[in-house]
Amino acid sequence: MGSQKDTYYLTTPIYYVNDVPHIGHAYTTVAADVLARWRRLGGDRVHFLTGTDEHGQKVAQAAAERGMTPQEHCDDILPRWREMLELLRISNDDFIRTTEDRHEERVQEFMQRLYDQGDLYKATYAGPYCVRCEAYYTDEDLVDADLCPIHRKPVEQLEQENWFFRLSKYAPLLLELYDEHPEFVQPDVRRNEVRAFVEGGLEDISATRTEFAWGVPSPWDPEHVFYVWFDALLNYITAAGYGADDDAFLRRWPADVHLIGKDILRFHAVYWPAMLMAAGVEVPMQVYAHGFLLVGGEKMGKSNATGIRPEELVDHFGLDCYRYYFLREISFGHDGTFSWESMESRYTTDLANDLGNLVNRVLNMVSSYRDGVVPAPVGAAGEAEAQLAADREHAVAGLAAFDRLEFKRGLEDLWVLVRGVNRYVEARTPWKQNKEGADADLDRTLYECVDALRAIAVLISPVMPDAAEELWAKLGLDEPLDAQRLPEAGEPGATPPGVTVERGRLLFPKLEE
Ligand code: ME8
Ligand code: MG
Repeated sequence: MGSQKDTYYLTTPIYYVNDVPHIGHAYTTVAADVLARWRRLGGDRVHFLTGTDEHGQKVAQAAAERGMTPQEHCDDILPRWREMLELLRISNDDFIRTTEDRHEERVQEFMQRLYDQGDLYKATYAGPYCVRCEAYYTDEDLVDADLCPIHRKPVEQLEQENWFFRLSKYAPLLLELYDEHPEFVQPDVRRNEVRAFVEGGLEDISATRTEFAWGVPSPWDPEHVFYVWFDALLNYITAAGYGADDDAFLRRWPADVHLIGKDILRFHAVYWPAMLMAAGVEVPMQVYAHGFLLVGGEKMGKSNATGIRPEELVDHFGLDCYRYYFLREISFGHDGTFSWESMESRYTTDLANDLGNLVNRVLNMVSSYRDGVVPAPVGAAGEAEAQLAADREHAVAGLAAFDRLEFKRGLEDLWVLVRGVNRYVEARTPWKQNKEGADADLDRTLYECVDALRAIAVLISPVMPDAAEELWAKLGLDEPLDAQRLPEAGEPGATPPGVTVERGRLLFPKLEE
């Protein structure tokens, strides 16, 4: 055996390019990015994959509506997806398109293998299909007799001769997986859902389609293209080097976590592990399905009027608030509602008041009282300092909630420190210390504040990279921010006395009307 897994490998879904991205796609992507940055901060080697799902009926239809070939349509719309990543400062290490050779070739090899070993057989499929979901349903799944349970739009009736995958054969192994590895599907409520589904009896599923050609052709029966979900799920291994770069693949696989929305849970928690089991590839360590982003009570989607694009919000609130808001406002596993008002309120309360004002206040005091030079902590440390140190520990320990994808919880704990520094300033009244000439005490106060801001810059960096860099620059520290590692960077006393701070621009200025 050569190499072994040494990389934290995380993924987002690959998104359909039938349309441009909206804040639902950005939601998963930002969460994944925060996790990637958080793990790098902790010293992990990280591989973060995202990309686009370009085959299938839905994309082919979108292209036809625009009078383009599917490939032209994909190439035309792709920049919009890449722009989203740039706009949101997504730090992905790779981007996979399912129309790339590196993907298509491996998909054919993988499926050929299932065929060769008898996991695929030809039969007729007849039943409902939702193109929006690219999903086969049973009559029991439907709402009001013919509506898709996700989109509440009429499904199509398919009847075609297909290659079927022997999914049912893997039911006992899947149940064993859920039971022996409860962390495989998270949150728990989703695992219970998936388990009940599998226990209720699994049917074999169609792995190919014939009524259109926009997909990866089956090598042994080229009239058939692979069902888009077989094609799409395989991105997680084709992009990681499966069948092409064994060394890279072994260092990455199994993935640590696939982040997805709960709309695509069944594909990831049932079909995907079964496909891998069939091919003798290890299953991922975790599939984490978050809730829906709702706008005006409805699931935010491409096909309804509630569609909001990330740039509309970034323009008004800025990148940092955008990245912070969704993770702080919504418990990641649950559904949550976006509203302009709640975003405004988070901006004003958490960012402008708690954090922006604090930074401004501390830097102003260092500038007026000490010419901008951070003093050594001369005066004795007492109860106020002990409290501050406790808040700091609380924040560093609490942020580890990010490892469990409990972003809201982690940010709440981080704000215990932000508010704690505000309270510290109130308790120490540096303006009085200054007036009364209590120089040693004032030095202590100012040092503690700056040193806490240094830790805060590091701790907010996975979520708010712009604000973190700006704050870091204001503090005049020599070492680069991206060289900081936790937990060391959270320890008190790492700020060298004598550095010169710069007030600069206000962080989180008042929002425009
Ligand atoms: O399903 N709330 O792509 P897709 C929360 N190509 N998350 C949302 C959301 C909302 N309202 N809307 C979208 C596909 N998302 C397949 C995936 S993976 C091998 C193939 C996010 O473009 C969420 O992550 O329909 C959801 O699962 C995904 O976008 C669906 O994106
Ligand atoms: Mg969808």
